[in-house]
Amino acid sequence: MSELGTVFDDSTTFDGKRLHLAVCGSVACYRAADLVRAWGRLGLHVSVTLSAGARRFVAPMLFESLGAMPIYGDMFADGQEPFAHLEPGQRAQAMVVAPASADALSRLARGAACDMVSAQALAFDGPLVIAPAMNPRMWAHPATQTNVACLASYGARFVMPVSGETACGDTGQGRLAPLSEIFLAGLRALAPQDMAGLRVMVTLGPTREAWDGVRFWSNPSSGRMGAALAAAAWMRGAYVTCVCGPGIRATLPQEVRRVDVTDAKAMFEAARDLWPDADIGMFSAAVADFGPDPYAGGQDVKFCKADAPEGFSVKFHRNPDILQTLAADRRPGQKILAFAAETVAETADLAPLAHAKRARKNADILAANRVNGEDGAFGALSNRVVVVDAAGNEESWPAMSKADVAWGLCSWLLRP
Ligand code: CTP
Repeated sequence: MSELGTVFDDSTTFDGKRLHLAVCGSVACYRAADLVRAWGRLGLHVSVTLSAGARRFVAPMLFESLGAMPIYGDMFADGQEPFAHLEPGQRAQAMVVAPASADALSRLARGAACDMVSAQALAFDGPLVIAPAMNPRMWAHPATQTNVACLASYGARFVMPVSGETACGDTGQGRLAPLSEIFLAGLRALAPQDMAGLRVMVTLGPTREAWDGVRFWSNPSSGRMGAALAAAAWMRGAYVTCVCGPGIRATLPQEVRRVDVTDAKAMFEAARDLWPDADIGMFSAAVADFGPDPYAGGQDVKFCKADAPEGFSVKFHRNPDILQTLAADRRPGQKILAFAAETVAETADLAPLAHAKRARKNADILAANRVNGEDGAFGALSNRVVVVDAAGNEESWPAMSKADVAWGLCSWLLRP
């Protein structure tokens, strides 16, 4: 089950990867323990360095108990390996500094090597992620901002602090970013950048078609599959824009652009505007194919029982088919991933429907899933799909997390 509430909390893609976490002296450093836990649950090997300041707030045993290994401390402590300051650079595939104090930013920016955190960062030539946390005046100071710009120019990626009340009672930007953002940024640093620079548009969630002032027609789609696709593409380096139907609870990485819509018409218009600039379209939304003709008494008015003591009928109209319309108007090179929500007796019955729908919709790849029965995909954490492509390839994947399905579909899309 969910650890930090992200769609990647149950991914298996990063199993066995090595990440180094440096924790600096800030009240927020106790929160780093939850990061170790969440990454550890994905099968990551996490090593940790606690700065001298951090060791005043939290004990190494906390991180040890959560499975982090090794735990580094003072560079000159008795028993410390002589080359411990070089180890993450030789072993870890990504390094995260969270929380990064103002002092740590200053030392990292000027290439100091007088303490374990800065020496390890200096000797680390892989992807570096920094999540600062400090008093808002310290954060706003030009010296800190210059350090941030300097580190960014060296290639560090920042998970910026957020605004709010800080532990010292001041209000402003300086609070550690949500752990979910730091967690995902750590995974992004471990991911292959094989979608770097690609512009990806994702439609996700249900649409909601209004009837009267209080009622609508919709479906139980949670948007989780689309959120997983968006996160996967973003981790692999793409610029991602999501067109989100209503009620989506899944968190999207902050760098993913989000356009919120309610009904199928608005989703169509938003997707149509984005489509010319997209390299890949991922159409995961459960769009309502039909919408009720609006209540004649007025769309803002509640229809009451007294208006139809014997019951009543509603007429439905066809909504635009977003995927089919945009697929018919694609430029060369644009790729399309479609889904098919089917009610079938067995997963095995999906394949013929998947091939037919892929061809009808003119998609490059289509992933079909059952939406009835116990393994129904709507709102579920996992998904069981049959994937087909234009070359006639077909695979039936076992039930897996939506993060893993998304990862696999991105890989299919990249196949020549
Ligand atoms: N889709 C869309 N716009 C619609 C309906 C569907 O963009 N109005 C997209 C979905 O996002 C999905 C694909 O088309 O990628 C197939 O959706 P699905 O609901 O399975 O199929 P339908 O087109 O609705 O066909 P049918 O109802 O006949 O199964």
